[in-house]
Amino acid sequence: MARPRSFVLALVMFAAAVGACAGNMGVVPTSECSSGLQWLGGDSGNALMHPGRDCIGCHASAGKGPRYALAGTVFGDAAAKDDCYGRTDVVVRVTGADGKFVDLAPNGAGNFTARSGVALPYTVELRRGETVIGKMQTAQTSGACNGCHTAEGSPGRIVAP
Ligand code: HEC
Ligand code: HEC
Repeated sequence: MARPRSFVLALVMFAAAVGACAGNMGVVPTSECSSGLQWLGGDSGNALMHPGRDCIGCHASAGKGPRYALAGTVFGDAAAKDDCYGRTDVVVRVTGADGKFVDLAPNGAGNFTARSGVALPYTVELRRGETVIGKMQTAQTSGACNGCHTAEGSPGRIVAP
């Protein structure tokens, strides 16, 4: 008798887990998001949440979420809207004033984060393998990359061609 009951319970839990994941992400036309994917989970805490938005600023004002020293999102196009999923196929190399660097790998939404920072000010290279495909010329001191790299105006998003 226990067997069918636990089978049903497992099914219910499986459905709940799939439902929770599916609810966080939507497939959208590429005219909406060039990646074809969009975050739909609102403010529910998740490493894939709100690609393109200012992670550090919102977590600080909400008093919730991880305290990152560096955080941002890599996109495929300069005008990508908030919550569109970005790109995963690059490495973000952040080099501190002392020459020490960290390599950050964007997750499935294009989001990259680091809890400990580098010596300020820092510079940035986008790399694919050993090839540098993008470089921030000006050294910066704020780790909130998406605070400057918005969909509107200059400099636009952090873009991996
Ligand atoms: C508009 C506000 C807002 C923005 C923007 C935001 N977050 Fe969050 N984040 C939250 C809140 C609120 C929580 C806490 C949720 C909770 O405790 O239920 C959270 C929690 C998290 C968590 C913890 C999940 C867990 O398992 O506890 C991660 C990881 C996270 N955020 C990553 C990010 C990243 C990366 C970005 C930027 C690309 C980002 N967030 C942008 C509001 C935001
Ligand atoms: C205070 C604003 C500001 C902050 C913070 C900032 N950037 Fe930038 N970024 C710019 C500006 C302005 C440019 C264009 C001029 C230049 O290259 O310096 C730029 C250019 C870039 C470029 C080159 C253009 C491209 O898309 O390939 C990359 C890559 C980049 N930034 C990545 C980052 C990353 C990663 C962070 C966070 C660790 C970050 N930026 C934080 C303002 C900022």
